[in-house]
Amino acid sequence: MKMVPPAPANRPNLEIYADAEALAHCCLELFCDCAAEAIQARGYFYTAIPGGKTPRRFFELLGGTTEGRLPAWDKIHLFWSDERCVPPDSAESNYRVAAEAFLNKVPIPEKNVHRVLTELGDWPLAARRYEQSIRDAFGPPTGQSPHFDLIILGMGSDGHIASLFRGSCAVLDKKNLVAAVNSPNVSPADRITFTPALLTAASAILVLITGMEKAQIVRRVFTGPPNEIDYPVHVLFSVLHKTIFLLDAPAAELIHST
Ligand code: 6PG
Repeated sequence: MKMVPPAPANRPNLEIYADAEALAHCCLELFCDCAAEAIQARGYFYTAIPGGKTPRRFFELLGGTTEGRLPAWDKIHLFWSDERCVPPDSAESNYRVAAEAFLNKVPIPEKNVHRVLTELGDWPLAARRYEQSIRDAFGPPTGQSPHFDLIILGMGSDGHIASLFRGSCAVLDKKNLVAAVNSPNVSPADRITFTPALLTAASAILVLITGMEKAQIVRRVFTGPPNEIDYPVHVLFSVLHKTIFLLDAPAAELIHST
């Protein structure tokens, strides 16, 4: 994968930036490079973005890109790696956060914005519908998981990614691409999430981790033995060759860059 520099064998590919602003600019560069390559090679760029606070500066930068800087928006298919089971106009909605930060500012066709239909109110149904919308967007079934060109994730202070939380059976879901989960330790508890099968099928994965509040979990997940149930971010340790962890210095404070 041209965009992702080769990681040392079986070691996480960590890139450390002075601060969250520098990290957001790097994320924008990687996003644009990946988009340009995918569109040139295959005509379209399939990507998924996370919720949470970490990607918001990247989203703002994305909203400020001029047409010349970013490839044609009509060639980009946008999904969410997870969504909270709240109405799309809720302040907690990952879709609404992205819409306000960049979607409402760029000429991406509405048909290319694939949000989770959280107005359904039936979360397993919403997960099945979202999975079908992913399959439909990728075209005729190939018998394999659809390969996103780029999936961007954050990581929680407990080591979760997307809405794959500690102890969740969705972490072990090998059958579905999308799952409905209920995690009483977070609010809102009901979420729709990509499963590891879909995440790890991507051609490239970026995990954005910023802030000193993440320093402890960064040390734990990058120095301890892989344990997907306790630290779902470890599902990515099977695909380190196509994953880059972007950290700012405060988040990386307790580890040495590799
Ligand atoms: C969500 C996210 C979630 C997030 C992590 C990190 O819907 O909340 O997708 O997985 O990426 O919880 O959140 P912060 O970026 O706010 O630390």
